[in-house]
Amino acid sequence: PQTPLADRFGRVHTSLRISVTDRCNIRCFYCMPLENVQFKPRAELLTFEEIERVARLAVSLGVRKFRLTGGEPLVRAQLHELIQRLAAIPGVEDLALTTNGVLLADQAAALHDAGLRRLNVSLDGLSEEMFRRITRRQGVDRVLQGIAAAQAVGFQGIRLNAVSIRGLTESEIVPLARFSREHDLELRFIEFMPLDADKNWGEAQVLSGAEVREVISRDVAELSPACRADLSQPAVDYEYADSPARVGFINSVTEPFCGDCNRLRITAEGQLRNCLFSTAEWDVRALLRSGATDEVVAKLFHDCTSAKRRGHGSDDQGFADTQRAMYQIGG
Ligand code: GTP
Ligand code: 5AD
Ligand code: SF4
Repeated sequence: PQTPLADRFGRVHTSLRISVTDRCNIRCFYCMPLENVQFKPRAELLTFEEIERVARLAVSLGVRKFRLTGGEPLVRAQLHELIQRLAAIPGVEDLALTTNGVLLADQAAALHDAGLRRLNVSLDGLSEEMFRRITRRQGVDRVLQGIAAAQAVGFQGIRLNAVSIRGLTESEIVPLARFSREHDLELRFIEFMPLDADKNWGEAQVLSGAEVREVISRDVAELSPACRADLSQPAVDYEYADSPARVGFINSVTEPFCGDCNRLRITAEGQLRNCLFSTAEWDVRALLRSGATDEVVAKLFHDCTSAKRRGHGSDDQGFADTQRAMYQIGG
């Protein structure tokens, strides 16, 4: 076995987030620009064969978890075939997908049949008005139908990701909490991070997890901290006093969890990143397409990991300027 992917701070990397496309069928303002989006040409994306090779190599370096992201992963054609390939790799303990849910109703059965068991769906609110303001598109119904369809084909423990934005999403906190309790979904509120393409992020728009928690405790039901099984998970979980449901808070801005980070990322065009806020990328695709051996690709993984900064792409306070928006990185 090869040496594990440890960095200068002793963090061992066992999770790889694989972006399969930078394209998306909606336009959330915290992630993408509204117009003139420069998508990568198809030929620049890793093929499924290439992704599988990288994934097998990552497993040989100690990676045990893959999460497929985008852009919107369900717009990549035949995604279930990739899932089948990844699910078949010996040593993979966890295979998950993060989606906006718009195409989920159509694909839920194929994804489940291919071996996918874990699903996170982005849902920032229940009202069509909020959906339109955030995504600049219509169709919250399709997302809700997608969630129902996924549950119907057997997905359990589906997580909902709700980005919280001050001055915008406050009215959705209570409806989302009630909805997730009723439908056996694990809701997580996410603090808005500076990864929007338009660079309009400001600290003033961050609605903190602590504030959201207070609203839920006051208006839905009392919350108390739940024990954390996996420290490398971004969410801090809470239990309701009156329900088996849980709610989590991903407080990336007010309580960074970088000290327990175990993630590497690969973009749709095959660039390895050691952080969401990585200021450099390591070109896996170039190696794959020039006939490099596994040893050479493994060295690139180690180089990328060794260069990882302490938190948020920096060894100091604050967020490094990534030059990339969320849809280009993979969330
Ligand atoms: P599970 O814990 O396996 O359910 O997955 P996850 O929470 O890592 O995945 P998901 O893609 O649903 O991410 C939810 C939110 O957490 C997104 O807003 C991510 O950008 C944020 N997030 C995920 N990983 C990181 C990370 O490494 N650093 C920071 N700062 N935020 C992250
Ligand atoms: N800040 C916080 N979360 C974000 N996401 C996308 N952009 C941002 C941002 N700027 C979330 C989406 C999705 C997940 C992959 O990342 O809501 O659930
Ligand atoms: Fe890891 Fe970077 Fe996310 Fe911090 S910001 S948890 S170091 S990926």
